[in-house]
Amino acid sequence: MGILSCPVCKQELKRENRIYKCANNHCFDIAKEGYVNLNSKNKSGDSTGDNKEMAVARRDFLNKGYFNVLANAVLSCANKYSKDGDNVLDICCGEGYYLHFLTKALNRRFYGFDLSKNMVRLASKRKSDATFFVANIANIPLKNNAVDFAFHLFAPFHASEFSRVLKNDAYIVTAVAGENHLYSLKEVLYDTPYKNDENPPDAGDLILVEKIKVKDTIVLNSKEEISALFQMTPYYYHTPSDGKQKLEKLDRLKTDVEFVLYVYKKRK
Ligand SMILES: C[S@@+](CC[C@H](N)C(=O)[O-])C[C@H]1O[C@@H](n2cnc3c(N)ncnc32)[C@H](O)[C@@H]1O
Ligand SMILES: [Zn+2]
Repeated sequence: MGILSCPVCKQELKRENRIYKCANNHCFDIAKEGYVNLNSKNKSGDSTGDNKEMAVARRDFLNKGYFNVLANAVLSCANKYSKDGDNVLDICCGEGYYLHFLTKALNRRFYGFDLSKNMVRLASKRKSDATFFVANIANIPLKNNAVDFAFHLFAPFHASEFSRVLKNDAYIVTAVAGENHLYSLKEVLYDTPYKNDENPPDAGDLILVEKIKVKDTIVLNSKEEISALFQMTPYYYHTPSDGKQKLEKLDRLKTDVEFVLYVYKKRK
């Protein structure tokens, strides 16, 4: 049985060739890349900040493995907190790097969604055995109690909706930037860089069961890679122009990457 639900009437969505359809005849086309747009409020556009070029830059950067310390930590959690055949969901999957990483190692039923069609299109092009859809975290088109394990990296949190789609006793892991994450990058951008606060999200009724910290040091050896990393950060939108100019002059950047993972359980 499928776990997708109609975003209009909440009935189960069933796949018929190139469409998903519910009992009330609401139909959703499957795009040529394989994903389906289930965001009824955003049929055509792309409402998030990342344009196509930024999405591609993000994909190419992650493909080089610079954040694999995080990918491996998520994989360990998925291994520990789910089993063969379970439904695993990547919430705000972006261009699908981490979900793809997991599909290569684990035997699960994988699902991923994001509000950005550009991102979901790229994720689908990775050709992993996963179901991708465009959707908003405020209205996830999945049945209640459907997901065995979810992960959620660097994106807005919606505790009640995440809890609704998780099974009882299922787990969700979220990641936030560690205090020293990209500190050397911030030293270039700002006169007085600050450390990240590592605060967990407001997780509502979800119960915190584990906190994991992982870190690595990466070296970027080209202006293109430095620029791609910068574009992936929130600083891209807030840095004064003199900081940006200093960064544009760099050919090499050595920096720590540090992540904090919070694992939550849905209480019965
Ligand atoms: C910083 S990116 C992280 C992407 C991916 N998790 C990763 O780590 O590579 C944040 C993502 O959250 C998505 N996003 C933002 N608001 C959203 C919402 N309300 N519903 C679904 N996705 C959302 C954005 O489109 C973007 O792809
Ligand atoms: Zn329907």
